[in-house]
Amino acid sequence: MYIFDINFLLDAITGRSENSKVCSIVLEDCINKGKACISSSSLHNIRYVLQRNYKEHLDKYLDIEKKLKVVKTPSYADLESSFAKEDIEDYIVELSAKSVNGKVLTNDKLFLEKSQLAISPVDYILEDLKEEIKIDFANLKKQYFLYQDELEEEMDKVLNSAAYIMGSAVKELEENLCRFTGAKNAVTCSSGTDALLLAMMALDIKPGDEVITTPFTFIATAETIALLGAKPVFVDIDETTYNIDASKIEEKITPKTKAIIAVSLYGQPANLDEIRAVIEKVEGRGEKGEGDNNSSTFNLQPSTSIKIIIDGAQSFGATYKGKAEVHYADIYTTSFFPAKPLGCFGDGGAVLTNSDELAEKMRMLRVHGQNRRYHHKYIGLGARMDTLQCAVVNVKLKHYKEDLAKRQEVARKYTERLKAEGRREKGSEWLELDPSTFILLPSTLNNRTSAWAQYSIRVKGEGRREKVQAKLKEAGIPTAVHYPMPLHLQECFAYLGYKEGDFPVAEKVSKEIMSLPMNPYLTDEEIGYVAEKLLL
Ligand SMILES: Cc1ncc(COP(=O)(O)O)c(C=O)c1O
Repeated sequence: MYIFDINFLLDAITGRSENSKVCSIVLEDCINKGKACISSSSLHNIRYVLQRNYKEHLDKYLDIEKKLKVVKTPSYADLESSFAKEDIEDYIVELSAKSVNGKVLTNDKLFLEKSQLAISPVDYILEDLKEEIKIDFANLKKQYFLYQDELEEEMDKVLNSAAYIMGSAVKELEENLCRFTGAKNAVTCSSGTDALLLAMMALDIKPGDEVITTPFTFIATAETIALLGAKPVFVDIDETTYNIDASKIEEKITPKTKAIIAVSLYGQPANLDEIRAVIEKVEGRGEKGEGDNNSSTFNLQPSTSIKIIIDGAQSFGATYKGKAEVHYADIYTTSFFPAKPLGCFGDGGAVLTNSDELAEKMRMLRVHGQNRRYHHKYIGLGARMDTLQCAVVNVKLKHYKEDLAKRQEVARKYTERLKAEGRREKGSEWLELDPSTFILLPSTLNNRTSAWAQYSIRVKGEGRREKVQAKLKEAGIPTAVHYPMPLHLQECFAYLGYKEGDFPVAEKVSKEIMSLPMNPYLTDEEIGYVAEKLLL
């Protein structure tokens, strides 16, 4: 971020000095890159100077002002410091820059000498030329910058209210989540992990029970089953979506099976119709839900005794047959961990359900199982989501449809670009990078949309994934592996007695999978750069 000193802005706008040309180029560049800021302390000064001395340029400035991010003067200003005593105006501008981890663009020689954060427009151009391309994986800083004014306003309200626990933003978020998904109930909670615990506790999952899930997920999915004393029973994954393979579930169902946790990995829903059909077959039902003949939604009522939980930590906003996933589950859980598609500024999560009964129970379980203050119906958890975090998600949720569409667009462009420029391996979907390295792009099945938490490709070839990661890292492109070891091979689950070879698809995919940078702000240029370096 660049905070513009007044002299810099005046030079750029009025053309009053020999520096003006370079200042206006730098100003335009900063605006185009979304890095243009002004300290709140400068706002009145610059308008005053323009009004008095350069009235004919005032309108031009006011147009530019709309494109500047106003950065507040931090209340922790040390007015006794030597800098502040020497030049209070420069001190506050520098402090504003510090608060956004930015620099000050100025033509003032004294400021340039005094402050390490001050740079001249010429230095800016030189730095920019030197600047290596560096792509951000999740770009949370950009999102903060974009919504900073709204976020600050909502966070200030919470801070001033002192209602830090269960303040009004909590209920507002729960209502907003229902509106967004069409769910009947939403209960916020302290994380996606606690959301899973709440869901299973509400379904009374206890020692001796079995819960079927995928071994190719984040540890929390299965860890919470084990925490409740139940047994995680793994089923291998489908090789296209990397989600649980519904065709392999039936053979794992026993009289002890209480629930199936379908994870929407990387943001894409699992085969929810097939999962429900398996349960109905085993339970001797086979009937469909109401409404559309092909629909398997629960129509607001869970209908089987083996319950379906969807771990949607990565999939908030995804749809299955045009509806939010909650409509295909007894309980849908999600996470607002910062790097998730809809994230807060710490830990947070939610459970969504169309069952009033389950929602009521989860509300109690979230607060130590209490139904009235200090009266505890159940053994519960301390699992509330902070008001402050709810306020953050409320702001982000307002922009979420747009953000989601941008994620989907980024994914589409990655795929389009890589398909267009990659060499197709004969008779297969794999693209050839070199004779010993092949990549496979992600695919989303027809009847669903993904929230694109990750854009994950596979790299075939012994040790090739690590080589591709190293090559991209060298080019300033971060990557990640979700997940390098399937859960049945994790030390903590050794007691379950699984061994290598039990889930061959999950094992193979975990050796090949790799995620590329994914966020709503990736530009066409950046997508092209990643594709170019990947195919190199
Ligand atoms: C599939 C899945 N389940 C559960 C979680 C847990 O969420 P949280 O980190 O909010 O506890 C995550 C988070 O990474 C996840 O990806």
